[in-house]
Amino acid sequence: MKLQVFAVLFLIAGASALPAASEVVVVDEFQNQLAPKNQVVDQIRWVIELISNTIKGLGLDPVEWEGSELNIEIPFLLKFNAFLENFRYAGISNIQINNLQYDRFFNKLDLDVSLPEVVFEVGDSGLYINVLAFFDILDAEFRGSVSLKSIRLVAEVNVDISIIGISLRSLSINFSLGGVESDLTFKINNLNLDFSGLFNNFFNETVPNFFEENEENINKSLEIVVSIILRIIWA
Ligand SMILES: *[C@@H]1O[C@H](CO)[C@@H](O)[C@H](O)[C@H]1NC(C)=O
Ligand SMILES: *[C@@H]1O[C@H](CO)[C@@H](O)[C@H](O)[C@H]1NC(C)=O
Ligand SMILES: *[C@@H]1O[C@H](CO)[C@@H](O)[C@H](O)[C@H]1NC(C)=O
Repeated sequence: MKLQVFAVLFLIAGASALPAASEVVVVDEFQNQLAPKNQVVDQIRWVIELISNTIKGLGLDPVEWEGSELNIEIPFLLKFNAFLENFRYAGISNIQINNLQYDRFFNKLDLDVSLPEVVFEVGDSGLYINVLAFFDILDAEFRGSVSLKSIRLVAEVNVDISIIGISLRSLSINFSLGGVESDLTFKINNLNLDFSGLFNNFFNETVPNFFEENEENINKSLEIVVSIILRIIWA
């Protein structure tokens, strides 16, 4: 999902940021210094802020819920209890710009953005079902947090600008995930099953390893997708 968020962000930034061919004038070093603030950079910054504020405005960051409980009891027949306390999901709007530069002379854009931490948290939750007063069908508990650290995207875009328009010369995208910290508890008590280790291993080992092992493919896939989109936009 994060990949998609960044792909969209990058696409919007790219689409609205580069100057239309008609605006382009030949600039030399001297003119470059006299020119007003770099418009491309300002526009990308503006788009990133817009995305961040839209996510917050839609109530998607943070998502907080103090919880709820459902109890159903039919004497001697059924006892049902489900509860969730302190659910929290936060961090996707906190887009940090580590580097953003547009070189008008070489028509080169450098972008380095990251999400420092995306966290998902459940204070406590459980599900309990008992029938006929003695038979526990389910007695499960789930709590803990998963946190994705430093999701980062570094891109370098080179374009050619001529009277016929903008065309993509080259594009390099590097995507990385700093790490995952998982501290989850998931137990099914009536069956004496503890899945906590399995879950934690999946999040803090399998997921980061996947990103590390597929680094090259992920970068390549992002480059292909973004360059197709840019070509369509600039066609
Ligand atoms: C991505 O990583 C490769 C290999 O380390 C490097 O050559 C390239 O310059 C990087 N691209 C960006 C945009 O940082
Ligand atoms: C892919 O991106 C990662 C993370 O930025 C970078 O370290 C790596 O060198 C890149 N690999 C290639 C093949 O571009
Ligand atoms: C994975 O999570 C567990 C539980 O929080 C922790 O003890 C372990 O050190 C973590 N492993 C890695 C590689 O981060």
